[in-house]
Amino acid sequence: MSAILAADAPAPVLEAIELRRYYSVRRGLWRPAQTVRALDGVSFALPAGRTLAVVGESGCGKSTLARQLTLIETPSAGELRLLGEDCAQASREERRLARRKVQMVFQNPYGSLNPRQTIGRILAEPLVINTRLGAGEREARVRALMERVGLRPEHYGRYPHMFSGGQRQRVAIARALMLRPAVVVADEPVSALDVSIQAQVLNLLRELQDEMGVAYVFISHDLAVVHHIADEVLVMYLGRPVEQGTAAEVFARPLHPYSRALLAAAPRLAAGRQRGEALHGELPSPLDPPAGCAFHTRCPHATGECAQQRPALRPLGERLVACHHVERIG
Ligand SMILES: Nc1ncnc2c1ncn2[C@@H]1O[C@H](COP(=O)(O)OP(=O)(O)OP(=O)(O)O)[C@@H](O)[C@H]1O
Ligand SMILES: [Mg+2]
Repeated sequence: MSAILAADAPAPVLEAIELRRYYSVRRGLWRPAQTVRALDGVSFALPAGRTLAVVGESGCGKSTLARQLTLIETPSAGELRLLGEDCAQASREERRLARRKVQMVFQNPYGSLNPRQTIGRILAEPLVINTRLGAGEREARVRALMERVGLRPEHYGRYPHMFSGGQRQRVAIARALMLRPAVVVADEPVSALDVSIQAQVLNLLRELQDEMGVAYVFISHDLAVVHHIADEVLVMYLGRPVEQGTAAEVFARPLHPYSRALLAAAPRLAAGRQRGEALHGELPSPLDPPAGCAFHTRCPHATGECAQQRPALRPLGERLVACHHVERIG
C-alpha cells in the first residue's frame, strides 16, 4: 500500500486511503457546473513522530489535502483514520473532538491570529475551550510553551501586530501544540519568511517533534524547505500522487519526470545533482486535465501511450511511482 508504512514502523497516527475531494464550480450563470478533482486519490500512513512532506506546484491540491486531514472539510470519497478512528464521514461532534488531535499551522499566521487578543489570550484559548484548567494553570502552561518556542515572557501581553513574521509563526506553532496533538498539518509554514528565519523555524519544528513525538504533514512548494525535515515525500501533480518514497531516496534520485523537474528547479538543491529536465510549459487547467498521464503535456519522455493511458501508482523498490516509462528513462 503506502511506501510510508515500512514493516517495522509504528502504527500510523494518521492514515489516508484513496482520499478524494471534488468541488463543483460554475464559470458563468448559464453554464453547467463543472467538477474540479482537486484531490483525486491520495493514500499514505504517517507514523507518530515522523514527517510527511507534500510537494508540488501551485494548484496541485496541497491545501485541499490539508483541509481534509484537519477535518475542516468532508472528503468526497476515501478513508481518513486519525489514531485508528475513521473520521472521513464522522458526525459534527466526533469531528470536533477529533480536531484536537490534529492541528493546523498556516502560511500566514497574521490571518489566523486575532489582532485584538494578546498572545497570552490567543494561546490560552484552546485550553479554555477544551479543558477545565483554572486560569492560573492555563497561564502557567501558556508561559511554559511560549518559552519552549522561543518567545520571551514580556511577549505574553503583546498583540500579534507587534511581532515579526518569524515570531508570529512561533505563536502559531505554540497554539497548534497547546493541546498536545498527535499530528500538526503545516501548510507552507515558512514560505512567507526570509531564508534565515525559515531555518530557525524549521529547526524549532524539528526540536519540538523530537520532544513531543508529534507527527507533521509538512506542505510546501519548495523542495529546499522540506529537504531537512521530511522523512517521507509525496509529490503531487493536479491532485494525484506521482511519486511517494523516503526523503532520502526521493532527494537522492527522483524517479518521476515531474519530481526530477521540481528538484532541478530548486536552486539550493539542484547544484551538483544529476539530470533533471527543467519544467517547461504551463500547468494545465484542473478543470480540464489532460487525458492519460496528466503530466504528459510537459514531459520530455512522453509517448502516445502517455497521452491515452493514465499510469497507475505502482511500487518500484521501496517507492511508488506513476509513470509508464520510468524503467526506460532510468
Ligand atoms: N473551494 C473550492 N472550490 C472550487 N475549487 C477549489 C476550491 N478549493 C480549491 N479549489 C481548486 O482545487 C485545486 C487545488 O487547489 P489547492 O488550493 O488545494 O492547491 P495548492 O496546491 O494548495 O496551491 P497553492 O500552492 O497555490 O497553495 C485548484 O485548481 C483550486 O482552484
Ligand atoms: Mg495551498
